[in-house]
Amino acid sequence: MVPIERAYARVAWCYDELAQLYSLGRIGRAKRDHLGALAPGDRVLYAGAGRGAEAVQAARLGARVTCLDRTEAMLVRLRRSAARAGVTLQVQRADVRDPAATEAYDGVVANFFLNVFTPPELSGLASRLIGSLRPGGFLAVADFARPSGGAWARAVQHASYRLADAAGRVLGLAPWQPLHDYARFGKDSGLRLERRRSFPAWRGGPPLYEAFLWRR
Ligand SMILES: C[S@@+](CC[C@H](N)C(=O)[O-])C[C@H]1O[C@@H](n2cnc3c(N)ncnc32)[C@H](O)[C@@H]1O
Repeated sequence: MVPIERAYARVAWCYDELAQLYSLGRIGRAKRDHLGALAPGDRVLYAGAGRGAEAVQAARLGARVTCLDRTEAMLVRLRRSAARAGVTLQVQRADVRDPAATEAYDGVVANFFLNVFTPPELSGLASRLIGSLRPGGFLAVADFARPSGGAWARAVQHASYRLADAAGRVLGLAPWQPLHDYARFGKDSGLRLERRRSFPAWRGGPPLYEAFLWRR
């Protein structure tokens, strides 16, 4: 199996463009959903930031942003976008599971990231991420929606997710496992759900992506 940072390095040049094209812009909207919760001066951590377009937007809104990711090729592009936008943010090549100085963040954002971890890994990581939030701070997660509803809705969701899932597995971007149940994850982590937004296949259709925002 290719190490995960090598797998992401291979696709860094086209990662965001493919995600936007594939989802017809829904993935980008889901990833930006938390921006309304930001106040100028907020300290925000982007875990597994990737190319971090939404982190750059957060910095433009006045947040003090830290981005962590294991893949240098993603971070090179993130730094370039920040320079183009004329904003300063802290960018660190790091594994989010490594011990780090504890910061009291106002927000932690983990978009399309937690599914690279198995359920046991996720519970350890969740305590670390949630533990780095000040009381009242938010955790935001956008990701693929878990299949739900009737047979027709599930078929549409499966069809949409399977393509990304198969490509992700062939390229070594994510392990073979079902999508995490984020609604349950929030409850089990003792977080208060403030907002849950769906990004459906069409107006009134089954959700393909979801964005959650919880408060500690
Ligand atoms: C599916 S991509 C999502 C990137 C970004 N959040 C987005 O929505 O476009 C997952 C990212 O997590 C990074 N990654 C994977 N495992 C990691 C780890 N243990 N620590 C830090 N970053 C990691 C990869 O390098 C990759 O950039």
